[in-house]
Amino acid sequence: MVKKIAVLVSGGGSNLQSIIDNMDTMNGEVTLVVSNRKNAYGLQRAMDANIEAVHISKDDQALIALLQEREIDLVVLAGYLAILSDEFISAFPNRIINIHPSLIPSFCGHGAYGIHVHEMALQRGVKVTGATVHFVSEVVDGGPIIIQEVCQIGDLKYASDIQERVLEIEHRILPKAIKLFCEDKLKVHQERVTIL
Ligand code: GRF
Repeated sequence: MVKKIAVLVSGGGSNLQSIIDNMDTMNGEVTLVVSNRKNAYGLQRAMDANIEAVHISKDDQALIALLQEREIDLVVLAGYLAILSDEFISAFPNRIINIHPSLIPSFCGHGAYGIHVHEMALQRGVKVTGATVHFVSEVVDGGPIIIQEVCQIGDLKYASDIQERVLEIEHRILPKAIKLFCEDKLKVHQERVTIL
């Protein structure tokens, strides 16, 4: 059965776009996009692709109800800048995935979002960074890791340049992880993910 995917966004939605653009390679379909911000460009991207686009500002119960009503199999957080309630997370066990723009467990957790993540990496002077796709658990950025990919920081001097380099990775590994999920190829055992 083709899996129904909901994508949650707060901003530009370039990760959402990467999923839409790769949908024909997946055993899944994005049937719903939700944003907690009314003017998120991600909502426009959804409408342009004829996908239902909904704004829900800060009501996890309404969100849970909508996702259940639409019989969503997988929830993808793609630049969703809100912390989900435990109730939400337990409603979709191992069925919520998130993309984070660093190599978890570096530069993650509360306050580590958007450009701040890359500023932290620059300031710490790490030589490599990257992106992580993981299942969402009650611990912020703490759930089982599905895919990570690394890039060199080299002589990049600005956080925005690192962001650009990392985004390229994000746009590759997020659709890849979703594809694996849709083919039932991700097995979670004792906090570790095995790709079948
Ligand atoms: C991405 O870097 C994502 O990893 C982070 O927020 C950014 C969202 O970008 N959580 P976009 O809205 O997908 O363009």
